[in-house]
Amino acid sequence: MTSEPANTVTTLLGEIADVGRDAQRGGYSRPVYSTAELDLRSWFIAAAERRGLEVLTDPNGIIWAWCGPERDDSLVTGSHLDSVPGGGAFDGPLGVAAALAAVDELRARGVQPGQDGKRSLALTVFPEEEGSRFGIACLGSRLLTGAIDADKARNLRDAEGNTFAELSARNGVDPAYLGADADSLAHIGQFIELHVEQGRGLIDMGSPIAVAGSILGHGRWKFTISGQGNHAGTTLMVDRADPMVVAAQIVLSVRKVAAAQEDARATVGRIQPTPGGTNVIASKVELWLDVRHPDDAVTAAVVEKIHGQAQIAAANEGCTVTLTEESLSPTTGFDAGLQAELRRLLPGAPVLDSGAGHDAGVLAPYLPTGMLFIRNPTGVSHSPEEAVENSDADYAAGALADVLEGLL
Ligand code: GLV
Ligand code: MN
Ligand code: MN
Ligand code: MN
Repeated sequence: MTSEPANTVTTLLGEIADVGRDAQRGGYSRPVYSTAELDLRSWFIAAAERRGLEVLTDPNGIIWAWCGPERDDSLVTGSHLDSVPGGGAFDGPLGVAAALAAVDELRARGVQPGQDGKRSLALTVFPEEEGSRFGIACLGSRLLTGAIDADKARNLRDAEGNTFAELSARNGVDPAYLGADADSLAHIGQFIELHVEQGRGLIDMGSPIAVAGSILGHGRWKFTISGQGNHAGTTLMVDRADPMVVAAQIVLSVRKVAAAQEDARATVGRIQPTPGGTNVIASKVELWLDVRHPDDAVTAAVVEKIHGQAQIAAANEGCTVTLTEESLSPTTGFDAGLQAELRRLLPGAPVLDSGAGHDAGVLAPYLPTGMLFIRNPTGVSHSPEEAVENSDADYAAGALADVLEGLL
């Protein structure tokens, strides 16, 4: 490693504080391969290269910054730089900035990954963790592991009609080579993702940090409701087949069905009427559903119940409705041995389960994976109000360095 003055996590996040701000929604909108996300990727590459790390982008667009000459069975840490629309400053970037700061901290301690019998260390940045552009969350890690079919990924379309293959090609990633990448996967001996906590778990526990226990099973579905597009002024109320009316009933069903099912969480956060005019009865409405529950069979039952109610609502309105599954991730427990190691290296850190999905969760079935959560004083995430105290952000880098040093 070369000598670069150490940066704190707060300083590093300050360097990107103006990238991808969303004046309309508030917070940040940094969809994968947008100007903002590309600027962040360049920022990460420059920061890693200043630290003397060897940077390369793999066939799926995952960035790797290497510290040490060996590749296989390395210790890997990282997160993502893309965001949801109007997201916070920390979901993703906290883990990336903490990884860079932890490299500085390891250097300050005289710890040399890849030397003195230690494994190499790599920092990674995964593309499209949020699925906010192409609909499927953790697309980079799903491609890496082969959890998603490469053709399915290539053909995903964003709201402007660009395919993931086109966007990849435009950004230097040859779409022909997207997909399961056994070589890169073999580089990961253990994977650690540090992440802002996205709920109020750590506030309640009174701890700045937790070790992740599991990730709640979750999936995404799309309802397509078709009706009769028509004129808002000339069409009598009795003559309407209005898919927006069906959509409204689906939103209420989602709330009612999930509220009646212990531990279920279900959300409609995105709805798209076509053509979408104030004085136009829509001809079609697309509505996206996010459902989560620890028991995957219960998730399926919740979705089926909502689907049944949607069909009744559609029939009553003279509309039709179809439901398609876009992605499904089962409940995933993190490696028990690695969890125990992390708790040994971070004395007093409680275990906290995650309601949010992460690339670490996609990797978990394939290799030993662990996560660290950092306290969020608002308990709010996927929102501009997401927060981390400066003191906790800088503590996070030290804690990550402790963990990396202990595992190397
Ligand atoms: C990603 O952040 C998710 O859990 O939806
Ligand atoms: Mn995240
Ligand atoms: Mn997120
Ligand atoms: Mn996530």
